[in-house]
Amino acid sequence: MAKVYITRPIADEALALVRGAAQISLWPNPDVPPPRDVILAEVRSADGLLCLLTDAIDAEIIAAGENLRAISNMAVGYDNIDVPAATARNILVCNTPGVLTETTADLAWSLIAAAARRIPEADRYLRAGRWKSWSPQLMLGQDICGSTLGIIGLGRIGQAVARRAKGFNMRILYADLAPKPDAEEALGVRFAELHELLRESDIVSIHTPLTDRTHHLIGARELALMKPSAVLVNTARGTVVDGKALADALREGRIFAAGLDVFESEPPALDDPLLQLDNCVVLPHIGSASVDTRTRMATMAADGLLAALEGRRPPYLVNPEAFSL
Ligand code: GLV
Repeated sequence: MAKVYITRPIADEALALVRGAAQISLWPNPDVPPPRDVILAEVRSADGLLCLLTDAIDAEIIAAGENLRAISNMAVGYDNIDVPAATARNILVCNTPGVLTETTADLAWSLIAAAARRIPEADRYLRAGRWKSWSPQLMLGQDICGSTLGIIGLGRIGQAVARRAKGFNMRILYADLAPKPDAEEALGVRFAELHELLRESDIVSIHTPLTDRTHHLIGARELALMKPSAVLVNTARGTVVDGKALADALREGRIFAAGLDVFESEPPALDDPLLQLDNCVVLPHIGSASVDTRTRMATMAADGLLAALEGRRPPYLVNPEAFSL
């Protein structure tokens, strides 16, 4: 029987799927990832690895897995895995695209509304007993309806965010590696260079994967192009934005607010400047965190892993070049 290492407790039905076909070793703590040494030791005897975006699966870990044939990441993003190192050893790498698209777009919209309308700040204000009366200048935010939305990365999630924006009667710009004429036609969105998008948008939402090209894509120079009334939302990966530059821009009122589900380091240090700012709404990377979606992601990761171990082609393969019949 194949041996599988699973780096965190996942939905019962996904565990049962893997258990039916393989011998499992499971890291038991639901909230703390296994230390690197534990992963290193476990992969030595594993045929398959089911991991999370919190696990750095680097070349050394991959090389230690002498029998390793498949790595299945319970996430759509796979920047935590050294895919070329896996491909070089013919190890299949799978991810879980599609099933989390709508849930993550919902959360991006929650952050847009929370940051633009200052919802967490207003909630803290009321609970602190500071609310005296309805008042003309109290907690003024920015309008969403009728404004311009700039989407950076018009992939599955970016497009789902655009679909929701139609209900807010928004003008929608997008930046991507190349124009996407089909999406333009379907969604009524317009391609823009990144700098034009930043200058013109009232709300900017990031939906690009983390790659060498997108690391610190939004830094001091880019933030300086944005309107003082603009809102920036990031539900993609923390290092797409330079956190220090963002904190400076928010503190100095050079942009209005930010909504962040992701950070350069997760969790961020409690003294991280971003956490000290009232105009920065922060969440603990919960974009896909609904009961149904996390169950589907776990099941999909399990299915992909088992397919790879059984010699079938997994439906979502990050490195198809590593697959041979
Ligand atoms: C979450 O961030 C994911 O990549 O699935």
